[in-house]
Amino acid sequence: MTDTITIRRPDDWHVHLRDGAMLQAVAAFTAKQFGRAIVMPNLSPPVTSAADAAAYRDRIMAALPTGSDFTPLMTCYLTDDTDSDDIAAGHAAGIFTAAKLYPANATTNSAHGVTDVAHIMPVLERMQQIGMPLLVHGEVTDGDIDIFDREAVFIERILEKLIAKLPDLKLVFEHITTEQAVRFVDSAGPNVAATITPHHLLINRNAMLVGGIRPHAYCLPVAKRELHRLALRKAATSGSPKYFLGTDSAPHEIHAKESACGCAGIFNAPYALESYAAVFDEEGALDRLEGFASLHGPKFYGLPVNEATVRLERRENPVPDDIQSGGFKLVPFHAGSALEWQIL
Ligand code: NCD
Ligand code: ZN
Ligand code: ZN
Repeated sequence: MTDTITIRRPDDWHVHLRDGAMLQAVAAFTAKQFGRAIVMPNLSPPVTSAADAAAYRDRIMAALPTGSDFTPLMTCYLTDDTDSDDIAAGHAAGIFTAAKLYPANATTNSAHGVTDVAHIMPVLERMQQIGMPLLVHGEVTDGDIDIFDREAVFIERILEKLIAKLPDLKLVFEHITTEQAVRFVDSAGPNVAATITPHHLLINRNAMLVGGIRPHAYCLPVAKRELHRLALRKAATSGSPKYFLGTDSAPHEIHAKESACGCAGIFNAPYALESYAAVFDEEGALDRLEGFASLHGPKFYGLPVNEATVRLERRENPVPDDIQSGGFKLVPFHAGSALEWQIL
């Protein structure tokens, strides 16, 4: 049995670092585990211009512990009014690494999102031309579509058509949750990839609904049935360069989670790599963890891999019921249980 594993320092290709006091409270957890992270722009108001993103990047840098070598990679929140020249200029200036498509009202702080992809076709054409990745929250928002079907319907109605029109667009299907998504990504060209969260590899919808309603297991896209979790595990551990690490760590204040109308999002940053290690270990694929966590993402984004390494050891790693940080009480993924791996 393998008891220690050393891999290149990983990156998180999808994280919510928030802003203000919450940013101060959570930034260190991501910076400790990862060399870089793609930072989501769904602040309130959202990050829609290069000037906003540069200012947000400065706030993130200021929130990092002294001596941290963490690099935030910034994204632009697309709206119906996004201008192609602005996006291209922000990308050329090294401020925007990618742009994020939130269908309007699909998830947390997405009210300003895109109401119809047709409105941003000129922007997407330009992104294809300059090789700028489009990151997609892939769920339709139609009231008549069951929430458990919203990702699969998004593939049929939006993604297949988009890729047919823009076959060379670099596209990351974010936080995939279904076997349909795996099939779509597998059958697309090398310009189409996906991130997979630790929670979608570890829980199915029972975790949210059996024995009581568990708000800390609620996120969007919502966890699906077991067959989908198994398809995601197969994809993540397959060694395919199309799949890489994106935690979607999405902290909310405890009262906003434990509420009659609780917010979507799982705070998994404090134990993220240990969670992924558990999955790869269970699948007998620890030798493929480095590809998923540290190599495939940089390759897709055209960035160098990290030089530093990180060592994980098999040992009991208890997770507290909550984490007090910066005046917040946050409930981490795996709260009150234990992981079998620990970062040294
Ligand atoms: C995210 C958040 O809270 O910002 N929530 C979530 O459940 N994943 C938004 C998102 O990534 O969709
Ligand atoms: Zn999302
Ligand atoms: Zn997210």
